[in-house]
Amino acid sequence: MTGKATIIGTGSYLPRHILTNQELEKIVDTSDDWINTRTGIKTRRIAGAGEETSIMASQAAYKAMEMAGVTALELDMIIVGTITPEMVMPSCACLVQKEIGAENAFAFDVSAACSGFVYALEIADRYLKNAPDMKILVIGAETLSARVDWQDRNTCVLFGDGAGACVVTGSKAEDGLLASQLYSDGRLWQLLSLDAVPRRYCPVVDYGTVPERNSFCDGSAFNMVGKDVFKYAVREMGDAVENLLNREGITVNDINLMIPHQANIRILKSLAERVNLSFKKVYTTIQKYGNSSAASLPIALDEANREGRLQKGNLLLFSVFGGGFTWGVVLWRW
Ligand SMILES: CC(C)(COP(=O)(O)OP(=O)(O)OC[C@H]1O[C@@H](n2cnc3c(N)ncnc32)[C@H](O)[C@@H]1OP(=O)(O)O)[C@@H](O)C(=O)NCCC(=O)NCCS
Repeated sequence: MTGKATIIGTGSYLPRHILTNQELEKIVDTSDDWINTRTGIKTRRIAGAGEETSIMASQAAYKAMEMAGVTALELDMIIVGTITPEMVMPSCACLVQKEIGAENAFAFDVSAACSGFVYALEIADRYLKNAPDMKILVIGAETLSARVDWQDRNTCVLFGDGAGACVVTGSKAEDGLLASQLYSDGRLWQLLSLDAVPRRYCPVVDYGTVPERNSFCDGSAFNMVGKDVFKYAVREMGDAVENLLNREGITVNDINLMIPHQANIRILKSLAERVNLSFKKVYTTIQKYGNSSAASLPIALDEANREGRLQKGNLLLFSVFGGGFTWGVVLWRW
């Protein structure tokens, strides 16, 4: 029981189509100023044909495997955090397995909303404690644009699509997952939920065609009490960070970079303030990609990695919050 997870490769995939706030002004009664001021979001990516959840996940996986120097046949396990798989059955993870040819792996999805990637990473870590030689593909992938109600300005402006992936194996040194704590509270499910509705594609998914307002879509998909979600997200992630750091005897000044779930720039600023972390140490992609649920953290991690923001030995904090409610925090030595 000595192993712990370390990341040996990261990758991400973003859909080609960029949906701007100005385009959203043509779809619902909103404005660039409102969206930018309330959320920090300027653009988000929208998946089109050939960019289904499992395909984006596979593209991100290829990049992570290339960086790790690991072939698909070497993979022992694939876990995908997602709430927007193509189908209820088979899992997105099985479709990824087929797509990349990971014939020796077993595969399953984790449904923990925006916390899905961190939940999956934690599960991988538990396996690696017993079998540190395993090579595990951990993915967060979402096609939220196919589920949101494009008439509901309260929600449709917030979300985007994409996928991020990591190849994880047992650490032989000091690096890797140092500590983690996951939480959920099903009593609060009604504050943020997503109906099991058929796919409904974004009106601009055909690239460039924005139909008349209210001429598409058929009712509510996301149910969200935005103010309450905001309040709980800041409070619970803040408490989770403080509890984990206290438990591990680490001060917030020791943290080199926080890579959080990207839900809202104001949530991230409030969280940083609450835990006394300089906002300069918070990595953000929300401006470009909006909230891509379970995909947002691994996309941000991959971008930070490829930009050279992550130096060997750096102490990282991953913090997530999502529907369920689910939330969690991970302390990671890069
Ligand atoms: C959704 C959120 C941005 C709304 O911001 P807010 O400051 O709480 O805004 P309010 O809910 O007070 O809405 C203010 C007004 O803006 C309106 N509004 C809502 N969406 C709008 C939009 N896209 N464009 C313009 N106006 C909008 C509301 O109808 C309301 O109007 P009213 O005062 O006439 O009733 C914010 O609550 C939030 O980010 N919550 C967390 C959501 C989240 O992160 N969910 C995923 C978690 S993983």
